[in-house]
Amino acid sequence: MQRIRKAIFPVAGLGTRFLPATKAMPKEMLTVVDRPVIQHVVDEAKAAGIEQFIFVTGRNKGAIEDHFDIAFELDRTLKDRHREADLNELARDLPIAGSASFTRQQEPLGLGHAVWCARDLIGDEPFAVLLPDMLHQSSEPCLKSMIEAHSSIGGNMIGVYRVPDDETHRYGIVDVEQGSTKALPVKAMIEKPKQGTAPSNLAISGRYLLSPKIFELLATQPRGAGGEIQLTDAMVTLQRSEPFYAHVFEGRVHDTGTKLGFLTANVAYALDRHDLRDEFRAALKTMI
Ligand code: UTP
Repeated sequence: MQRIRKAIFPVAGLGTRFLPATKAMPKEMLTVVDRPVIQHVVDEAKAAGIEQFIFVTGRNKGAIEDHFDIAFELDRTLKDRHREADLNELARDLPIAGSASFTRQQEPLGLGHAVWCARDLIGDEPFAVLLPDMLHQSSEPCLKSMIEAHSSIGGNMIGVYRVPDDETHRYGIVDVEQGSTKALPVKAMIEKPKQGTAPSNLAISGRYLLSPKIFELLATQPRGAGGEIQLTDAMVTLQRSEPFYAHVFEGRVHDTGTKLGFLTANVAYALDRHDLRDEFRAALKTMI
């Protein structure tokens, strides 16, 4: 079984649901507590043993590249001020030289197209995709469990989580063969099923392990929902020739691309921080 070493982070979207905050700033740089959303997701990939971090960026996304680079003036100032703890934290977050690559999606033609833009950087090996706006909060990082499962069963794998039955029409839903394991064989994937028609309440969570065959399919994939080249459409085709599993994530998923998801993520992550928890809880209590 080929080990998963590389991960794609598609960060070229316009973030229109978060305007005006995202007019001049990438939505992936919005902070959840004191770390940019993209850093939380890179942390998850690092914890899963990923060695190559591939960012598919676009116009106005330069702040993401700067975030994963050394900031000489800042380092110098922190050194002069003897701020060792801050310097160490910045050093810890810095990718090893040569382990981060950036390629551009010239037009935001959809998630499938963004993934396809990274084809030459991935080459002929299975890889991970992490949607940076979907935060997976749990003591066991989601991608780590998926890669562990993949190392024994192979195939393609999609992260899923349970959503309320009356909200399934808002998500990509998978139909699975029931079983006792965490990775369930996928029978079908349906993008935003009509209310009351979803075959399950397992929603796609923004974590994928895919075989490189997906690139061939994406190359000729016609535009789908919203006029965009959809990753789900290519996965539906791939599922006809390769095994696909759904990996059920038991933690909390926050969609930080929506205002509500962003706000709840900040509350949930702040309540998880030992240096903030008590004071923050007390402040919340007085507010509500
Ligand atoms: P979203 O659809 O949530 O992001 O895509 P968006 O298009 O930026 O947001 P809205 O709908 O306008 O508010 C999920 C992820 O895929 C990336 C986005 O940057 C986001 O991280 N993406 C999306 C691309 O890289 N390219 C695209 O063409 C579309």
